[in-house]
Amino acid sequence: MTEPRKLTLEIFRYNPSDPDDEPRFQRYQLIEAPGMTLFIALNLIREEQDPGLNFDFVCRAGICGSCAMMLNGRPALACRTLTSSLDTHIRLAPLPVFELIADLSVNTGKWMREMSENLEVWIHTTIEANLDAIEPPMEPSLAQEIYELDRCIECGCCVAGCGTALMRSDFVGAVGFNKIARFRLDPRDQRTDENYYELIGTDDGIFGCMSLLACQDVCPKNLSLQTQLAFLRRKMLRTVL
Ligand code: SF4
Ligand code: F3S
Ligand code: FES
Repeated sequence: MTEPRKLTLEIFRYNPSDPDDEPRFQRYQLIEAPGMTLFIALNLIREEQDPGLNFDFVCRAGICGSCAMMLNGRPALACRTLTSSLDTHIRLAPLPVFELIADLSVNTGKWMREMSENLEVWIHTTIEANLDAIEPPMEPSLAQEIYELDRCIECGCCVAGCGTALMRSDFVGAVGFNKIARFRLDPRDQRTDENYYELIGTDDGIFGCMSLLACQDVCPKNLSLQTQLAFLRRKMLRTVL
């Protein structure tokens, strides 16, 4: 039987609400167990070594998006990452772009809410809601296309991995473009491309995207962001040409 590996985790520590605290990396060591994820490793560290360590988890199943962090310099979901897929030396830091709460915990919710409000990511219709009426059926293939884009879990990985988002604080980000693509597909939303142009036809919008494609590389839900972004750019250009 092979000896279990000893893991060294270097974890970013900083509490911005404590005036005496300084940003630093702190080193922890633990013995790897079979099937260990980063979620399990971080919990063990918190239980056995450092109860003050801050990080976020809710679902532990790649669904809620709250455990995204920089793993060896690349955004990833900690609950979906097996330590056996990594070297024994692991470096963890909070996602950039988002407001730091403490250590590995960032406020993606605040960023996502602002983005959602700015882009008005809800159905816009002039048809009065009638709760007794039966909704007209949607073609299954169209419903499937919309469902595909709705798989986004708002983890923030695509934003944290994007060079443009790092430089431009108001950049919509791939998550926002994906939402516009989703509502643009939805026949119940009566907005036109001119309306969408008002929302994303700027340098902080689709014209600021430099096709760096890290968003698609790091998306844990494997959304086809590259296709959506290129399509939206063409559509938005067409509204002004
Ligand atoms: Fe996360 Fe992908 Fe959604 Fe971006 S598009 S927030 S990477 S699930
Ligand atoms: Fe950023 Fe993705 Fe565009 S990484 S620059 S949003 S292609
Ligand atoms: Fe929900 Fe990781 S804890 S996605």
